[in-house]
Amino acid sequence: MMIQNADTKNVIIFDTTLRDGEQALPASLSMREKLQIALMLERLGVDIIEAGFPVSSPGDFESVKLIATEVKNSTVCGLSRAMEKDIDACGEALKHATNPRIHTFIATSDIHVSNKLRKSQDEIVEMAVHAVKHARKYTDNVEFSCEDAGRTHIDYLCRMVDAAIKAGATTVNIPDTVGYTIPSEFGGIIEQLFNRVPNIDQAIISVHCHNDLGLAVANSLAAVQAGARQVECTINGIGERAGNCSLEEIAMTLRTREQLLGLTTNLNTQEISKASRLVSQLCNMPVQSNKAIVGANAFSHSSGIHQDGVLKQQNTYEIMTPESVGINKNNLNMTSRSGRHVIKHRLHELGYLDSDYDLDQIYNSFLKLADKKGQVFDYDLEALIFFDQQKHEDAYYKLTYLHATSGQKIIPSATVTLSVDGEEITQAATGNGPVDAAYNAIIKAIDGDELKVVDFKLDSKGEGADALAQVSVIIEYRHRRFHGIGLATDIVEAGVKALIFVLNNTHLADQIDEHKSQRLAGV
Ligand code: KIV
Ligand code: ZN
Repeated sequence: MMIQNADTKNVIIFDTTLRDGEQALPASLSMREKLQIALMLERLGVDIIEAGFPVSSPGDFESVKLIATEVKNSTVCGLSRAMEKDIDACGEALKHATNPRIHTFIATSDIHVSNKLRKSQDEIVEMAVHAVKHARKYTDNVEFSCEDAGRTHIDYLCRMVDAAIKAGATTVNIPDTVGYTIPSEFGGIIEQLFNRVPNIDQAIISVHCHNDLGLAVANSLAAVQAGARQVECTINGIGERAGNCSLEEIAMTLRTREQLLGLTTNLNTQEISKASRLVSQLCNMPVQSNKAIVGANAFSHSSGIHQDGVLKQQNTYEIMTPESVGINKNNLNMTSRSGRHVIKHRLHELGYLDSDYDLDQIYNSFLKLADKKGQVFDYDLEALIFFDQQKHEDAYYKLTYLHATSGQKIIPSATVTLSVDGEEITQAATGNGPVDAAYNAIIKAIDGDELKVVDFKLDSKGEGADALAQVSVIIEYRHRRFHGIGLATDIVEAGVKALIFVLNNTHLADQIDEHKSQRLAGV
């Protein structure tokens, strides 16, 4: 592998949306959703996709395996503690990857070593060296991370980095795990490593900054200025606590200030806005409107002076173009009179490839929506893309009929017919509202007493009374949380669709667990 450090221009983008980002979500993503995000990241041109932590659960193992099989152009990476069983799980999950990487880590700060790991510094070095050597049995692409490096004594950090490289690590990552450092300090740590570790030129130096003080991007930037050549980041900056370095911010900083910094990435930045919307939707994490690069207001101008300036010359108030992150202005009205080509054209403008959707299916859904709403907007169309893809004809649970009544002075009730593995089951129930009644009917129909609704959020996609209702639910099932989204012009229907979305994922999870226990039992 070519080592890219201080004198190389290219900064490697390592995305950990599916690992650090996903571990911070209130409910885990399904395998299909993870694959959708991974394929988006591949299209964005991310160099390395950290797809998960295989040993952590059978679901995570299977997702990493699936992503490793499907993704061809990005390196696919799995995380492991510095333990043989974790590394073996990574090796197994990544077996079919075109470009696999094993990422192993252990904490190095005094606070973690003495309080969490309760080991001596020498023992930690030994564990790290053993882990790296073990990972090298599976692949020659091994990353080692010194967890909490930002609070690790620099002498010990130099010793760890040196030992990891000698053991065979090809990338050494320096995380500011708790987002504690400030840019000059963090850049200084990287500079010292370059000055003091004799074999530093034999590995890529990476950084992984958390955003507890809002400095993750600034710290990552200081690190690349000091010679680091891999940045670990996530779409929309999602991740543990206040999140990680945001991919779109570091990428657009490098691109917009390329002349000053002299650094580039392999990203197709025009895919940024689409990746951001996909992650926000599937992870149920709204993006604040004033968020840099991907917020709804990032390219809108409010004051008259600014509007006048931009109209005269765009760069008066825009340091990058909206097109450079994939935002295109729309001037076509989409109504039930619009033909397929208009929908196809608009989807193309929004950055979708023909292979991203089934035009017949989207067009049918579009017509139904246009009949109900009149005008269909970009966000409606994208919602159809995101959620039509989840609607599998062969889904285990499908909604065939729904009737709900509510009003003043009557008891809300609902009748629901579900197709369960092809067999139709009808149930009726009452509740404290029509959604509650429909949920009670579904739970009765499938004997689903184990399902507990933890959170139910209703949102509108678009403006006005005819906007689409989007319901996001979090359901607890067998000590795990599942997130589901449903979309419809009718609130009850949206709620029911969200529950059915979850039911199909719990069904999948049960199948994975069953498969795993059969494998363990040698069946
Ligand atoms: O924040 C952190 O230190 C991590 C490591 C596992 C890289 O996420
Ligand atoms: Zn992290």
